[in-house]
Amino acid sequence: MTEEKGVSHQLVLLPGDGIGPEVISAAETVMVTAREYLRREGIELSWEAKPIGGAAIEEAGKPLPDETLTAAQAAKGVLLGAVGGPKWDRLAPQERPEAGLLGLRRALSVYANLRPATLLPGLEGHSPLRPDAVAGLNVLLVRELTGGVYFGQPRGRSGEKPARSALDTMAYEEGEIRRVAHVAFRSAQRRQGRVTSVDKRNVLETSRLWREVVEEVANEYPDVKVEHQLVDAMAMLLVLRPQIFDVVLTENMFGDILSDELGGVVGSLGVMASASLADDGPGLYEPVHGSAPDIAGKDLANPLGAILSLAMLAEHSLGLPLLARAIEGAVDEVLRQGLRTQDIGGGGQGEKVIGTREMGERVAAALAQSLHSRQALNATYF
Ligand code: IPM
Ligand code: MG
Repeated sequence: MTEEKGVSHQLVLLPGDGIGPEVISAAETVMVTAREYLRREGIELSWEAKPIGGAAIEEAGKPLPDETLTAAQAAKGVLLGAVGGPKWDRLAPQERPEAGLLGLRRALSVYANLRPATLLPGLEGHSPLRPDAVAGLNVLLVRELTGGVYFGQPRGRSGEKPARSALDTMAYEEGEIRRVAHVAFRSAQRRQGRVTSVDKRNVLETSRLWREVVEEVANEYPDVKVEHQLVDAMAMLLVLRPQIFDVVLTENMFGDILSDELGGVVGSLGVMASASLADDGPGLYEPVHGSAPDIAGKDLANPLGAILSLAMLAEHSLGLPLLARAIEGAVDEVLRQGLRTQDIGGGGQGEKVIGTREMGERVAAALAQSLHSRQALNATYF
């Protein structure tokens, strides 16, 4: 595998709030190792950190400062920790930390959110489901990320007690559905060739359009099998028979809900990674877990979701799939060694519970070892 010499990749880190800074710092430890090996291949990796969310409200008075957005737009890829926390809960909707994240997703046009759910080695017994019900689980959730009820207008509140009312709008244009459907079908072609599209067509107009457009896109992929599920039934099927699914395609809010459910199914939201992709420009990579204010600053958070998001960044934004595989392999290796953060430490035989920072160091060490031995075998590893 050859890669052009003399390329330089600039990344932006957005640690954010709660456990965000801790998991991003652990991912940074892994990046330092990757940088050292990439340099030998003539590839420069550099990064800078910028504030977002509550941290940006404190520092710059708003959740998505211009400087953060400009840096993100100019980067190859953006790795984000988490946003939000009780401190900012009383702010008006547009001033909240979450508005920073939603504004960033929208500004980068990252409409296709890929959330893979697989069972990592050694975590089979950690799922609340029976081991035989989750063995071999490998689902890719494709969530539409820049439309639907998250962004629909009009929205707002009116009236005074006892006549208060609130309004949100769920709206989709067919182009928004079509482009994310293509991402799902193309992904399925590289996987098991099956797409399950999830909607609520028995009730919602947007869902009726969703299903129509997905059917049209499906006609362009005769090699992919498509089926449709209503979101309530899907919520049940994901805990009854999660193994039967390959690619799951759905709109923004349904995808938000089903991705947390998949986190529960694989045993912890802490290990789940995501990539949010646009047609052009940088991708945005985030662990699926939130800011978890209750454990923030205690070195308890699981950084594997952030580290696996870094692997997705290497694959999708840097065009370095072998580096992505090596990072994933390093995560598998530390889990095989029995190392666990508290959320996935079930007290099993040979398991040792370690903190966020040590987990980052262990993954980095495993990565260094695998890259070192590979390099001895093949000098053009990347
Ligand atoms: C997620 C989160 C976000 C979302 C929040 C923090 C705005 O729950 O990425 O799943 O709802 O998209
Ligand atoms: Mg969510």
